[in-house]
Amino acid sequence: MNILLTGGSGYIGSHAALVLAQAGHAVVLYDNLCNSRADVAQRLAQISGHPVPLVQGDMRDTDLLARTLRQHHIAAVLHFAGLKAVGESVAEPLAYYDNNVGGTLSLLRAMQGVGVRTLVFSSSATVYGEPRYLPIDEAHPTSATNPYGRSKLHIEEMLADLVASDAAWRVACLRYFNPVGAHASGLIGENPRGVPHNLLPFVAQVAIGRRPSLDVFGQDYPTPDGTGVRDYIHVMDLAEGHLAALDFLAGHSGWHAFNLGTGQGHSVLEMVRAFEAASGRAVPCRIVGRRAGDVASCYASAEKARTMLDWQARRALDDMCASTWNWQQQNEKISS
Ligand code: NAD
Ligand code: WQD
Repeated sequence: MNILLTGGSGYIGSHAALVLAQAGHAVVLYDNLCNSRADVAQRLAQISGHPVPLVQGDMRDTDLLARTLRQHHIAAVLHFAGLKAVGESVAEPLAYYDNNVGGTLSLLRAMQGVGVRTLVFSSSATVYGEPRYLPIDEAHPTSATNPYGRSKLHIEEMLADLVASDAAWRVACLRYFNPVGAHASGLIGENPRGVPHNLLPFVAQVAIGRRPSLDVFGQDYPTPDGTGVRDYIHVMDLAEGHLAALDFLAGHSGWHAFNLGTGQGHSVLEMVRAFEAASGRAVPCRIVGRRAGDVASCYASAEKARTMLDWQARRALDDMCASTWNWQQQNEKISS
């Protein structure tokens, strides 16, 4: 099948592109490169042995999207493109609504015009807001605590409205928990600009000596060691979840939401120890105050994806840390 990946040269999209190409699908990347590099397409071709075309364009360019869908005979779209920094979304909400909601609206118009009605959307566990119970299943109430999260909720709702208006649509909203790790080749991975906001990229930069120490945001949470607990999932497992979602949509129309997580929570200090073991490097830590907006614990019920998608995460914490370290070492020059 010919598949368009919006945001396909980014962190998660590039790993999904690889999994799809290796499963025999023809993939096309569509990205404006605001948070990724054009050479990702060559790297994907190098690893997979298949050509990986990249169309450089913006989500809000509906005409270019429609032309791309037609030219490449696209049958389904995986929609990763978006801005994702929570703090930035609070400072610049309009940029987030414009890019994320406006970009998705533009994509849906292009798809509708061309008659492509199968979509897998990159949603987030952030749509659950503050957890009311754990593990979080898909029936958990949704809410938003910042404009980024609200943009994801708006998109999910927009997709549900669209599906309700036309039964030909097939839509899966995949609610990712905390994606980490990289492909074993070390050729693709997460390349954050500036100071990383997320835990593991920061830990990796401390391990390699680029930053002196990790600030641990709070050790007074009601968790076993007092630090925050999250559901870290290997990006390759996450990528495979997209293949499973596409297979599912081949047999099901309608709107569907699935958690993609492991169902296991790990604390900040557990992650640091696992990274030290995988890298053989020390990761000095400083305990500081809590970060605004953080919750104590957040982890998924992965049951719905296991039973309906026949998918579950297989890769363990040591692989998440070792692959992050491998990527960090190989890409030190690029990312510095
Ligand atoms: P990323 O920034 O690495 O990838 C996003 C890609 O989209 C980038 O390559 C960027 O250049 C592109 N892009 C952004 N705006 C665009 C636009 N207007 N037009 C064209 N391309 C555009 O991020 P990621 O971590 O790979 O995230 C992918 C998706 O998954 C995002 O929608 C994100 O919100 C979602 N998500 C990510 C996480 C996470 O922790 N990484 C968690 C949950 C959900
Ligand atoms: C994990 C844990 C921190 C950095 C965010 C977004 C969410 C989603 C994924 C897209 C927490 C602690 C972190 C540091 C630390 N993105 N930490 N020192 O907050 O679960 O989720 O990314 O949808 O929307 O909010 O992930 O990696 O930032 O933090 O102690 O320097 O690590 O307090 O307990 P989070 P994270």
